[in-house]
Amino acid sequence: NWTTEAFVDEAIREVRARVGDKRVLLALSGGVDSSTLAFLLHRAIGDQLTCMFIDQGFMRKNEPERLVKLFKEQFHIEVEYVNARDRFLEKLQGVTDPEEKRKRIGHEFIRVFEAESTRLGPFDYLAQGTLYPDVIESADTNVDPKTGERVAVKIKSHHNVGGLPKNLQFKLVEPLRKLFKDEVRNVGRSLGLPEEIVRRHPFPGPGLAIRIIGEVTKERLKILRNADYIVRQEINQSGKYHDFWQAFAVLLPVRSVGVMGDQRTYAFPVVLRLVSSEDGMTADWSRAPYDLLEKISNRIVNEVKGVNRVVYDITSKPPGTIEWE
Ligand code: XMP
Repeated sequence: NWTTEAFVDEAIREVRARVGDKRVLLALSGGVDSSTLAFLLHRAIGDQLTCMFIDQGFMRKNEPERLVKLFKEQFHIEVEYVNARDRFLEKLQGVTDPEEKRKRIGHEFIRVFEAESTRLGPFDYLAQGTLYPDVIESADTNVDPKTGERVAVKIKSHHNVGGLPKNLQFKLVEPLRKLFKDEVRNVGRSLGLPEEIVRRHPFPGPGLAIRIIGEVTKERLKILRNADYIVRQEINQSGKYHDFWQAFAVLLPVRSVGVMGDQRTYAFPVVLRLVSSEDGMTADWSRAPYDLLEKISNRIVNEVKGVNRVVYDITSKPPGTIEWE
């Protein structure tokens, strides 16, 4: 007879028994899985848990600051904030291929993770927000032949990430490994995680870097971040946030002609991608109200320097994908 409360009690007991007085590292992403995990572990082992947030510079506007502040001030969980923005941007210079972007971001993530876990460590355990579907699918863990324990060879929170170096193979703590997503949300709720995080739209590990088509530059990041911020604000204010599976902006690396006052403009277009979906495997473009679209479009063109046109993506998945890269 499965209840959320019983699960939480049992999970806490198990974690304590497994970890003892050892230290555990958790790479926080701000999503519901890693946040729920952080709450659960903090309750189970308190200060033996270290939460690390690596800011690769591709998060949405204000998100990293907000996350760290929320955890610290409201949840009383200290987060080690790692600013790696310049490093990641440098690695993407001149790169336009989507898979190459993911690969480089993944490799850089491992490098930063390695350096930071050494600096903050040593740690005996790595906590991962592995869910039941991941356990079935994934080949990113090995079983240690001597102990029979699952050992991390990849990091899950950014699922494009490459292998961990041999000397960094942690033992795993995966208390969510028997749960489906909906059950994780309930566990999160019962631990006091706010709805804002529990019901947050999915956000890809490589973040805005795969929503800037072509090369990622500082200037383009700024443009997209500002456009995306307006999309989020208006979607929130419309009261329709939960009508969408995801709702975001994409920046295209072409320019078109427009007119602003009595000036001719020649600037980038932004694509609005608003979709509904059950699980992300298939998706339908959202029949969003025209006045919501109009408001977003007007604000973006008026407020975001560098953008003079907004277009609406009316492609479902398949044959389109949700993301543009
Ligand atoms: P697509 O674009 O394949 O996206 O229709 C399906 C879902 O997966 C998310 N997505 C990613 N998530 N790293 C992630 O962590 C990625 O590289 C990545 N690519 C796509 C996407 O946002 C959608 O929810």
